[in-house]
Amino acid sequence: YFFACTFSLLVALLTSVGGPAVQLYKWGLFTCLTTLLLAVMYLQSMYMHLPTSVLDSPTHGFSVSRHNSCTDPCRIVLVESIPEGMEFNCSTNPSIFQSWLNLIGEARSSLDIASFYWTLSNKDTHSDDPTAYQGERILKELIQLSSNETAVSVRIAVNTPQGSQPVEDLNILMQAGADVRKVNMRDLTTGVLHTKFWIVDKKHIYIGSANMDWRSLTQVKELGVVVYNCSCLAADLEKIFEAYWYLGQEGNTIPSHWPASYATSYNKETPLELQFNGTSSTAYLSSSPPSLCADGRTQDLQAILSVIDDAREFVYVAVMNYIPTLEYSHPKRYWSDIDNQLRRVAYERSVRVRLLISCWSHSQPSMFPFLRSLAAVQDRTSKLDIEVKLFVVPPTSSQKNIPYTRVNHNKYMVTDKVAYIGTSNWSGDYFVNTAGSALVVNQTATLSTELTVQEQVQAVFERDWDSPYSTSLTQHTDIKKLCTEIKYEKI
Ligand SMILES: *[C@@H]1O[C@H](CO)[C@@H](O)[C@H](O)[C@H]1NC(C)=O
Ligand SMILES: *[C@@H]1O[C@H](CO)[C@@H](O)[C@H](O)[C@H]1NC(C)=O
Ligand SMILES: *[C@@H]1O[C@H](CO)[C@@H](O)[C@H](O)[C@H]1NC(C)=O
Ligand SMILES: *[C@@H]1O[C@H](CO)[C@@H](O)[C@H](O)[C@H]1NC(C)=O
Ligand SMILES: *[C@@H]1O[C@H](CO)[C@@H](O)[C@H](O)[C@H]1NC(C)=O
Ligand SMILES: *[C@@H]1O[C@H](CO)[C@@H](O)[C@H](O)[C@H]1NC(C)=O
Repeated sequence: YFFACTFSLLVALLTSVGGPAVQLYKWGLFTCLTTLLLAVMYLQSMYMHLPTSVLDSPTHGFSVSRHNSCTDPCRIVLVESIPEGMEFNCSTNPSIFQSWLNLIGEARSSLDIASFYWTLSNKDTHSDDPTAYQGERILKELIQLSSNETAVSVRIAVNTPQGSQPVEDLNILMQAGADVRKVNMRDLTTGVLHTKFWIVDKKHIYIGSANMDWRSLTQVKELGVVVYNCSCLAADLEKIFEAYWYLGQEGNTIPSHWPASYATSYNKETPLELQFNGTSSTAYLSSSPPSLCADGRTQDLQAILSVIDDAREFVYVAVMNYIPTLEYSHPKRYWSDIDNQLRRVAYERSVRVRLLISCWSHSQPSMFPFLRSLAAVQDRTSKLDIEVKLFVVPPTSSQKNIPYTRVNHNKYMVTDKVAYIGTSNWSGDYFVNTAGSALVVNQTATLSTELTVQEQVQAVFERDWDSPYSTSLTQHTDIKKLCTEIKYEKI
């Protein structure tokens, strides 16, 4: 086309005037325009392939091939901590303790941990409880991993310890060779660093509700996920970690615009396409607060609202705290984004809403009137179907003396479409100024007959909902009696 274009134009010019010259001139123009069009199309396709071919290079360790798809053989495992003494009829998932040991065992080059506080050794309670053994074992393994006898670089981002919060574990780890950065979220956003996740060798991850606390392994009920062999997802979580790491550097403040290296192309609009256990899936990681979200990152609140909005049959929520306020704000502020969304889908689409909320002696009293109000949205004839249950982890007489323990600390949601596994309590503060993150897994498009993550999380929810540890919240429930008095003598 290019040669035809130049040739005919030249001949037309040289022969000048006359019938055939005009024809030739037209032909020349046509071929020239076609050349231009083809050139534009070629350049555009080059441009589209450019970013992915850069990511494809082995030095980046990525295996994103085209657009947002990932060819890693990702394996996902739902993991739980079931408090000692609790019994369920149906099966429970592998333990968080075992999965942390596995992750430590896998580590060859790096381990990055984002954490709220550290009490893996039972020094803070003076209780000498034998169930502290698992936390102490994890701490021992981490100390060993941090030492310069291994080639593994251990980095820990932790919320700046406040007041009486113990720092012993952190000091021991630092002495052993771990790199620890304290993130002063109170100064940065008036919140805390509440996120809990691990990244191993930039390819395996853990994310969930468990704190770096021995109680999170044997005394508090927790839920999380581990994803092995998934560098695409790990690299994306690493970007969230790197933001904490940056903010943990003395003197650094939140940039008004995060540099491109923190940006992501995986979000609720364009999630990562990958295989979990060979089942085609999409996934993305959300983050809070908004000021810590770089370009492209879905805010945690937006993730929750869109997951609820996407549900057609049911929304099951299991969180420790659910309060439509900014809990820690003075003066008081009402905050109803999530509450509105739940009521909206219940009303507009007759979606069945179930909330499984924790109740213990430290529960905020203001939580219950709001939960009762939600539970009142229940009417068969108008197809309004919201129900709330309170989950109690009963203590034994000896366990009663361990402070801040025996509670359901889960933070997840499952709908008829997707599973959302997070690290935040559900009240305004956690989305406005506190750092948290979540993994959203969508397998609705799969044709596989394997159990999906959504089905597994649903099974956990239904197991807990139907267990004798859950009690329906009605207008008459005696909260004080239910939440603070021992109910299950047997345990
Ligand atoms: C580890 O570091 C310590 C102190 O920094 C040093 O004395 C020791 O030789 C190192 N050990 C190894 C195996 O490099
Ligand atoms: C990761 O994948 C490799 C190769 O398929 C496999 O040998 C290894 O066991 C996997 N690791 C984990 C932790 O699943
Ligand atoms: C899950 O994926 C389907 C397409 O496969 C999409 O229609 C739906 O909106 C997604 N849901 C969420 C909550 O991302
Ligand atoms: C969640 O809320 C409870 C009660 O307000 C609080 O004690 C806890 O620190 C919050 N975060 C965690 C650890 O989940
Ligand atoms: C994925 O496979 C592992 C075993 O390799 C299993 O434990 C886990 O439950 C599977 N996950 C799902 C969602 O089926
Ligand atoms: C186990 O099943 C029995 C009989 O169905 C029931 O009475 C009991 O409450 C169940 N226990 C739990 C922990 O779910």
